[in-house]
Amino acid sequence: TGLTTIDSGFVNTASTRSAITFIDGEKGILRYRGYPIEQIAQKSSFLETAWLLIYGELPSASELDEFDTRIRRHTLLHEDLRRFFDALPTNAHPMSVLSSGVSALSTYYQDSLSPKDPAQVEISTIRLLAKLPVMAAYAHKKSIGQAFLYPDNSLSFVDNFLKLNFGTLAEPYEVNPVVSRALERLLMLHEDHEQNASTSTVRLVGSTEANLFASVSAGINALFGPLHGGANEAVLSMLGEIQASGEGVEKYVERVKNKEHGVRLMGFGHRVYKNYDPRAKLVKESAHEVLAALGVKDDLLDIAQELEHIALNDDYFKERKLYPNVDFYTGVIYKAMGFPTRMFTVLFAIGRLPGWVAHWREMNEDPATKIGRPQQLYIGSPARDFPAR
Ligand code: CMC
Repeated sequence: TGLTTIDSGFVNTASTRSAITFIDGEKGILRYRGYPIEQIAQKSSFLETAWLLIYGELPSASELDEFDTRIRRHTLLHEDLRRFFDALPTNAHPMSVLSSGVSALSTYYQDSLSPKDPAQVEISTIRLLAKLPVMAAYAHKKSIGQAFLYPDNSLSFVDNFLKLNFGTLAEPYEVNPVVSRALERLLMLHEDHEQNASTSTVRLVGSTEANLFASVSAGINALFGPLHGGANEAVLSMLGEIQASGEGVEKYVERVKNKEHGVRLMGFGHRVYKNYDPRAKLVKESAHEVLAALGVKDDLLDIAQELEHIALNDDYFKERKLYPNVDFYTGVIYKAMGFPTRMFTVLFAIGRLPGWVAHWREMNEDPATKIGRPQQLYIGSPARDFPAR
């Protein structure tokens, strides 16, 4: 075919134009629709940022209010879909449960599947934003053997989610405002990150004119991997291993540098950032604030800080420009909030949902979109005759 270039892992090839998120990896800059992530984290809310990403501008107060109300009204799952979770094993990973639940939305909402009908895209967007957190909480409840709660639509997006996770049928539940604000901030920091692996997956699946639920379900599966969203879970396992082994942080760093059995410093390094990930800075601040406010003392935070300090001053990491990424400190906070380790990547998925939706919609609205179909360089056998029989 005359094809001569290959770009494994898309290191040099842009797959699209996009107006949603800007990253300068050398300088450590991240902006949503032009607004710096630091200002978003300080001034916005999860749903306001979702609106910004999806529709392109900040909402007016009444637009935001209406958006919030519509989402609250769609939180209930169909009763059969609620029971769908019963059919899955208790020890299933909550990410597998979540992607299955989102995939199943296509079976319940067959009226909202057309990617070319703006009204259907709109209702699918609302349904996803409303129901994904509920399904995520059910994945959690299932894993600990507790009864599912129904959503409480008098509560905000984040508070409702907290109650669904930590409330029980036996006692009233009071949301801790420190936890609520910190979780909202973390979710906001995850809302978009341009063409990462899961977003590219959502776009690739969506480019076939597959529906939004099918595309997002694929995105959740892409996020599951430990090199992507699964890193937040992997970081906590790594910190726990270092603590349990008693070998000390320096020893672990040596093993990483020796590339022992593919050992990596999880939560470090990034394809795009060759500088401190601006989200990691904000998450690190939150980690100290939340632990202090909750009166939690966690040795894992000390281990994480020691690891960071050693790595930032070591030539191996300096030469390769490896810095902490967003996943490095999130796990310590989620743990202090009471989430089990296996829920960490699920929290990332809730955070990233607006970005996936924004990219899927941007792609579908662009008349220049073509089905995603990479080329290959064939390295197999030349033509040969099948043996005579
Ligand atoms: N620990 C030790 N060495 C590393 C690490 C790490 N975390 N990350 C990269 N390197 C080394 C790698 O071995 C290679 O060294 P050499 O040149 O000697 O072969 C060099 O740095 C370049 O690495 P790469 O694998 O070519 O870089 P990449 O852009 O393909 O990978 C990454 C990016 C994020 C997959 C990788 O840095 C990594 O595996 N990090 C750990 C997992 C992680 O924290 N992922 C979360 C990413 S951020 C948010 C998200 O997507 O969830």
